[in-house]
Amino acid sequence: MSKNILVTGGAGFIGSHIVEEAVNRGYNTLVLDDLSTGKKENLEHLPQDSYRLIQGDIRDNNLINQVFKDNAINCVFHEAAIASVQKSITDPENTYSINVEGTRNVFEAAVDHGVERVVFASSAAVYGDDPKIPKVEDMSPKPISPYGEHKLENEKMAAKLSLKGSTKFVALRYFNVYGLRQDPASEYSGVISIFINRILSGQKITIYGDGKQTRDFVYVKDVVAANYLVAEKIARGFAIFNVGTGLQTDLNELVGIIFSLSSNVDNIKYELSRAGDIRHSLADIINLRRETGYKFDYEIKNGLSQLISHK
Ligand SMILES: NC(=O)c1ccc[n+]([C@@H]2O[C@H](COP(=O)([O-])OP(=O)(O)OC[C@H]3O[C@@H](n4cnc5c(N)ncnc54)[C@H](O)[C@@H]3O)[C@@H](O)[C@H]2O)c1
Repeated sequence: MSKNILVTGGAGFIGSHIVEEAVNRGYNTLVLDDLSTGKKENLEHLPQDSYRLIQGDIRDNNLINQVFKDNAINCVFHEAAIASVQKSITDPENTYSINVEGTRNVFEAAVDHGVERVVFASSAAVYGDDPKIPKVEDMSPKPISPYGEHKLENEKMAAKLSLKGSTKFVALRYFNVYGLRQDPASEYSGVISIFINRILSGQKITIYGDGKQTRDFVYVKDVVAANYLVAEKIARGFAIFNVGTGLQTDLNELVGIIFSLSSNVDNIKYELSRAGDIRHSLADIINLRRETGYKFDYEIKNGLSQLISHK
């Protein structure tokens, strides 16, 4: 893979891990982030001169074009977004302007400047609440939130643009990603970072419903591996892949593991399930495995134990 990398949203949770990998590989690494939910501290463990951070908004089309013009970017990992289903419901216009219009700026500039490849964060949210599992990429998408609709629109946009120029696009439909630097303070954060934070500090946790709802939890390092694999191996103009483990974990099991890895006693409150919560979510990762050799390294216990050991 070529060496000038741009990571949008690179100061965020997943983006900072993609940046870390680019730096480890010795790539020229540029980060574009408006620091709305991302933080400079997420990159502070890296040598200061190993990457460059531009603080800016993907909605600023002039800035985006300038960035591509000045930097001969070969590969973009596009992670910048409002990564919250709830926020897309309470603030749909602002979310649309970032997740769709901002993404369009990045995609179009990439094509106009002849970037070889764009790998971008889509989401399992495009599948919606269709009860059929596992989710396979060719199932017809039925998003039930503006966030899911926006991610689907990104995919359609990329498919169209891939016919226009030489830029190749890959959409990665992430399932439930967890790992270091996921912000537990955010009310929109992933359930794992919230549970770990509360359990390690001795607080009660709340499970909505019976706790038998399942998710496909994927450790952030496996998500990073999937990003680089598709960047290196997928040769066609447009492709979509699920990124998960293909394994289901229910919430009771999840908190059981966290309690067993911490020294705290179970302290769980069950409340009525929340409207709109999806019962089961599971990725089919056969296509990703077949086309790239992807093999996840972290089953839930290993991922949680590595995460807790960093706390
Ligand atoms: N975390 C998950 O489980 C998950 C699941 C599916 C998809 N995703 C997608 O993965 C990507 C990364 O999510 P994350 O969990 O790391 O969230 P995050 O909030 O930590 O990262 C998003 C980053 O984008 C930046 N950003 C937001 N708006 C911007 C703008 N207008 N211009 C420039 N930068 C902007 C933020 O400051 C932040 O650093 C997002 O596209 C998200 O939708 C995440």
